[in-house]
Amino acid sequence: MHNRNNITDKIFWVGTNDRRTHLFENYWPLPKGVAYNSYVIVDEKTAIVDTVEKGTMDEYLDNIAEVLEGRKADYLIINHMEPDHSGSIRSLVERYPEMKIVGNKKTFPMLERFYGIKENLLEVQEGDQIDLGEHKLNFYMVPMLHWPETMVTFETTQGILFSGDAFGAFGTLDGGIFDDELDLDYLDEEISRYYSNIVGKYGRPTQNALKKLSGLEIEMICATHGPIWRSHVADIIAKYDKWSQYKTDEGCVIVYSSMYGNTEKMADNIARQLVKKGIKKVRIHDSSKTHPSYIINDIFKYRGVILGSCAYNGDVFPTMETLINELEHMAIKDHVLGVFGSKSWGGGGLKRLNKFAEEIKWETIEATPEALCAPNNEDFDLCEALAEGMASRLKELYK
Ligand code: FEO
Repeated sequence: MHNRNNITDKIFWVGTNDRRTHLFENYWPLPKGVAYNSYVIVDEKTAIVDTVEKGTMDEYLDNIAEVLEGRKADYLIINHMEPDHSGSIRSLVERYPEMKIVGNKKTFPMLERFYGIKENLLEVQEGDQIDLGEHKLNFYMVPMLHWPETMVTFETTQGILFSGDAFGAFGTLDGGIFDDELDLDYLDEEISRYYSNIVGKYGRPTQNALKKLSGLEIEMICATHGPIWRSHVADIIAKYDKWSQYKTDEGCVIVYSSMYGNTEKMADNIARQLVKKGIKKVRIHDSSKTHPSYIINDIFKYRGVILGSCAYNGDVFPTMETLINELEHMAIKDHVLGVFGSKSWGGGGLKRLNKFAEEIKWETIEATPEALCAPNNEDFDLCEALAEGMASRLKELYK
């Protein structure tokens, strides 16, 4: 009975904390780790909601056994098939072979292809209900939040939304599991970075899901990562609403790629001019040092984006190429873009950034300085013109 984590008298958190994995999805940094949340409802019938990544499975199976106290598991609800949540299904099935696996018509082909499981399935559709006794579970499809099979489960008696990845966060649950037990200031960037990195591409599906769920009386949100929301339910829903509409604040993110400091000098000059013109929130990143995860997160916060690159083998610098590929892939909307660069002979960096500007279809600033070898006064004049164009447009947008 030492490790029971009650959410209510009959619902338990049985998830795990992962402080060992460096990269989520083998790409996104996890400096503060990540939690895989799973839940057990103990009623006349018992239900497990989602599972955990297989690396923490032993601890997870012990957690479940502790709350079930010898009872069998009647249902396993699969809200989402990504292996950080489905990774323990096969072991659960071995331990609880009579358990019905609940999913929708898009869940089960994935279940079979990932894990070879095709028996004991219970398919649910939008609005279907499973009655556990005191607790009733309703199902809502939220496709592309952020996979096609994604659904959420709403417990109607107590108003608990098992939301899958929606409203999730990076960061482990250190000592607490509820939002009001944890230091949300410490987790703030991990909450927004989870949205921008993992869900951010799917703004419209997120909006669709928010509209669909808006009629529910939600008292608590149990996501598959991060805090359980009970004191800040409206706040996290409002954040998702803002982020998924690509609403941003006044500010500018400058990202540069520089081998010997000349492009960096231009970035610093532009930043100085922006601040002198009243733009206080300026964030500068070196694309060779800062992972795109953090840069993308800042771009989700601020309307202005200025990208600068030296030429490299007739093209843009490799780490800038990685970043702009990611931005194109995520199809982030509604920004104001400025570009600049440097070259020692034939160029290529600014040319690629201009191509990116055409493809991403953001509003652009006219001045596009490109220094030859090292920036001179004329180049700095153009840097100032770029900063002036960006600052005046931002001031206009946020007046
Ligand atoms: Fe947390 Fe999409 O898996």
